[in-house]
Amino acid sequence: LNYLTPKSRQEVLDLLVTGLKRLEYRGYDSTGVAIDSPDNKNIVMVKRTGKVKVLEEAIQEHFSGGEYSKPVLTHVGIAHTRWATHGVPCERNSHPHRSDDGNGFVVVHNGIITNYNDVKTFLAKRGYEFESDTDTEVFAKLVHHLWKTHPTYSFRELVEQAILQVEGAFAIAVKSKYFPGECVASRRSSPLLVGIKTKTRLATDHIPILYGKDADSGKPQVLPRSESTSEFMPLEEKEVEYFFASDASAVIEHTNRVIYLEDDDVAAVRDGTLSIHRLKKSLDDPHAREITTLKMEIQQIMKGNYDYFMQKEIFEQPDSVVNTMRGRVRFDGNAIVLGGIKDYIPEIKRCRRLMLIGCGTSYHSAVATRQLLEELTELPVMVELASDFLDRNTPIFRDDVCFFISQSGETADTLMALRYCKQRGALIVGITNTVGSSICRESHCGVHINAGPEIGVASTKAYTSQFISLVMFALVMSEDRLSLQQRRLEILQALSNLADQIRAVLQLDSKVQELAKDLYQHKSLLIMGRGYNFATCLEGALKVKELTYMHSEGIMAGELKHGPLALVDDSMPVLMIVLRDPVYVKCMNALQQVTSRKGCPIIICEEGDEETKAFSSRHLEIPRTVDCLQGILTVIPMQLLSYHIAVLRGCDVDCPRNLAKSVTVE
Ligand code: G6P
Repeated sequence: LNYLTPKSRQEVLDLLVTGLKRLEYRGYDSTGVAIDSPDNKNIVMVKRTGKVKVLEEAIQEHFSGGEYSKPVLTHVGIAHTRWATHGVPCERNSHPHRSDDGNGFVVVHNGIITNYNDVKTFLAKRGYEFESDTDTEVFAKLVHHLWKTHPTYSFRELVEQAILQVEGAFAIAVKSKYFPGECVASRRSSPLLVGIKTKTRLATDHIPILYGKDADSGKPQVLPRSESTSEFMPLEEKEVEYFFASDASAVIEHTNRVIYLEDDDVAAVRDGTLSIHRLKKSLDDPHAREITTLKMEIQQIMKGNYDYFMQKEIFEQPDSVVNTMRGRVRFDGNAIVLGGIKDYIPEIKRCRRLMLIGCGTSYHSAVATRQLLEELTELPVMVELASDFLDRNTPIFRDDVCFFISQSGETADTLMALRYCKQRGALIVGITNTVGSSICRESHCGVHINAGPEIGVASTKAYTSQFISLVMFALVMSEDRLSLQQRRLEILQALSNLADQIRAVLQLDSKVQELAKDLYQHKSLLIMGRGYNFATCLEGALKVKELTYMHSEGIMAGELKHGPLALVDDSMPVLMIVLRDPVYVKCMNALQQVTSRKGCPIIICEEGDEETKAFSSRHLEIPRTVDCLQGILTVIPMQLLSYHIAVLRGCDVDCPRNLAKSVTVE
């Protein structure tokens, strides 16, 4: 929403499209945009199947020149890029959705409205006809219905009434031709923030909240201006541009000042004034939302000289791992301080068990560090996939410490598992890469992994930084254990060499590319290892699946003889990780089992290990490090391999089909 300087509709569309491009990693099945018509009396929509680029071309066709190039002062536009949950990806199902032919109310929505069938039946009985298969459309029509039945309601009140009727998860933004220059947005479970750009700095750094509905009666309870104290006054600031977005990367090139909305906040902009209302009044809610100043820089979300974000992020790892340790690890004094959890360490040391919970790659970082955590904390450590953990109604106790690992901090499965554990009184520790995310805010304490924004849908640098964060936690937990000091020193020493060793592994890039040329036409790839490197097998196979659409399986080498060996023959590509660690001999057994079935494995081994190399068809040598950090060095060739195979197969590296980076639905 712009009230700052005159802009043409074309400029506003450019701004929306750029914002969508920044958010594309969250979904890219179909896109759409809605803005005011030149006379401000109607709303014009353009929607397309496919990525934002397709929408951009359509916008150029529709809106170039004429009335659309004239500068006007007030604009409201909404736009969306979709990851299909209800209804196939197509123009009809893409957002914005509308209330009626005349585009009275238009809506963009992330999340799932779970009772949409009930609402649909209710509205269908009142004559509404539906044009899409989505859950979202009911919201636009519901607001329209409320507008017809409650003609005196303000736009914000209409949206509030509609929100009271819907169940599920949502971040929603609504625009209406009946309320030009206004926009109302709200969230429940799905992330939403307000970006604020002013000509001059705001007088205060918080936006006071006006209380909205009475929780019991649902009636509006807006305080009259005359009765409100300054604490309840919305901020009057006309020279301002507001952005509603599901993530800061969409707005960072315009402003670094944002307000993270809480569940059931209803934010409304009218005449250049932002106010935030609560749907439900609660006494423990502070009467203000703080403006956060973000440190993110636009360069961090640009590709630079790389072809793909994923490629850039793989090559950033020598720096991102250092950033994770920065200000935390003192190699000279062998001291580690994790500021975000240090006050909780005594409580954690007294706990019954540690639970590590996440999804996808984040889950693999838990698998990768479990053994070290067991060793250095001497506590039972459970590693759980968030979705399965919830399905099982896993027993949780007050003296459990639960870690929630999530790059985005918004994954719905992980967030639901967090809330489940919090309700049962466990201590909640967040390990995230996104400051201000839901998991950050709902945790008691935590560690920001500081890997920098990760845009490629397939996670790379976040994984290595999650890994290191958990290693640092294990080191903190063992600080006062005399018997573990030698081991700690060995790990600290290895951490100090890690960036250089990662650089050395990245030098393998062209060799990995050659390997990819041998593999990319195959149907399948088996990746085997055990001990500290089993997580690399799982993560490597996930990368291959996500990026190349090839079948791939991470196999625990100890399990090979219990089934997967049947897959091995002279044509099945097999990759094995065989390093000189305590499981070396057992890995060699597995290797022999493969070669004696005519398999010709590609081997990842330690530099100069001639004996192991002799069993391979091809090999990649990585520098020697301490056993518990090997997983960082072994995963990088897997990241590179999946990347190169994807390029050779012509796959979209940064936006693999059917996936989204941040899955905010269960
Ligand atoms: C999605 C992504 C995965 C990611 C997982 C967990 O499925 O496609 O790459 O690992 O979510 O995401 P999180 O943000 O919680 O780490």
